[in-house]
Amino acid sequence: MSVERYQSTYIQTHFAERIGGADYGKDTNIYKFEKIKRAKAAAKLAFPDVELIDMGVGEPDEMADPQIVAKLAEEAAKPENRGYADNGIPAFKEAAARYLRNVFGVEDIDPQTEVLHTIGAKPALAMLPSVFINPGDVTIMTVPGYPILGTHTKYLGGEVYNVKLTEENGFLPDLDAIPQDIARRAKLLYLNYPNNPTGAAATPEFFAKVVEWAKANEVVVVHDAPYAALTYDGEKPLSFLSVPGAKDVGVELHSLSKSYNMTGWRIGFIAGNPLIVKAFGDVKDNNDSGQFIAIQKAAAFGLDHPEITEAIAAKYSRRHNLLVAALNSLGFRAVKPKGSFFLYVAAPKGIKGGQRFATAEDFSQYLIREKLISTVPWDDAGAYIRLSVTFVAGSEAEEIRVIEEIKRRLSDVAFEF
Ligand SMILES: Cc1ncc(COP(=O)(O)O)c(C=O)c1O
Repeated sequence: MSVERYQSTYIQTHFAERIGGADYGKDTNIYKFEKIKRAKAAAKLAFPDVELIDMGVGEPDEMADPQIVAKLAEEAAKPENRGYADNGIPAFKEAAARYLRNVFGVEDIDPQTEVLHTIGAKPALAMLPSVFINPGDVTIMTVPGYPILGTHTKYLGGEVYNVKLTEENGFLPDLDAIPQDIARRAKLLYLNYPNNPTGAAATPEFFAKVVEWAKANEVVVVHDAPYAALTYDGEKPLSFLSVPGAKDVGVELHSLSKSYNMTGWRIGFIAGNPLIVKAFGDVKDNNDSGQFIAIQKAAAFGLDHPEITEAIAAKYSRRHNLLVAALNSLGFRAVKPKGSFFLYVAAPKGIKGGQRFATAEDFSQYLIREKLISTVPWDDAGAYIRLSVTFVAGSEAEEIRVIEEIKRRLSDVAFEF
């Protein structure tokens, strides 16, 4: 039965205002990711014999480490792991606390009261507003960025105040530019470093400033850190919790999705202020019944083996080097990110003697439709495209071939910036 058939029934008129009320699904605007999907399909149809190079996906191209997969198989066979996990097993919390100490130098996390597992960072971001947001309360978000905490703030009748991340500020929010009345009304500040999509990393000085600002304005900091361990060229993994006073003002979200090639496994953790962790646990307990214990045990094994992440980071670092060199040889001003698998680069204004690109979206559509290279455009704070080095390539030789192919395809035009 088609969706349209039911749009004239009470199902349609019963929809909540937060998803559009009676108008839900009738918006004719096509959203960014749907546009990319459609352009990809059109390009494949137009050029069936040309390889589509996908630099758009935000997830790893490889499987989890075989040792972690083996651990899952072993634990999945044990009857004691079969039931509801509720708010998690001590072994995972202890591994998370060790991981924070070993990788980030965070010494003072109590695994009993200051850590809880999550079914990935995304559901944690979806639940945190339920812990804090009443109608009219403000969440400060950074744009461009990952919107989930803001979406749920609005679902609950709260407001979102967006702070732009710009190149001039190293893609760090200018906290002093946030108006005083917003800072006073804000309950939550969302930060994400290394950042999606800009690839920027924070510094201890910036985090220290965040702690000071949060205390002065009585704001809770949510640091979303799924890329925290994916850093390059001597840049040390940095946890917000490593900064003095951070635990007084906030929590940090970690995830095995990106740093352990485990996106589909759905496992991560929240750590930090014990009162926030406790309240989050109460809300979480009313949302899910915990991740499969065998997955928690396999993930705990992974957290005790950070060398798995280091090998993944070395691969991305190598790919970033190739991609940055290729783009710069074509006239782009690409700068290798300090962390994450994203390269965020300013879109050209057009092609010499040819097409103009009014937005990054225009440029991204050109890349997919004419060059069969998929990227994600961002126009929130300047026109940029995001290329992810998670493209499929089974060997170093194959990585070089893919990047050479991108260069070859883009070499027949001269871009204007
Ligand atoms: C900034 C950011 N936060 C959270 C997530 C979601 O991570 P998880 O797979 O742990 O839910 C992503 C995934 O793309 C992300 O980029």
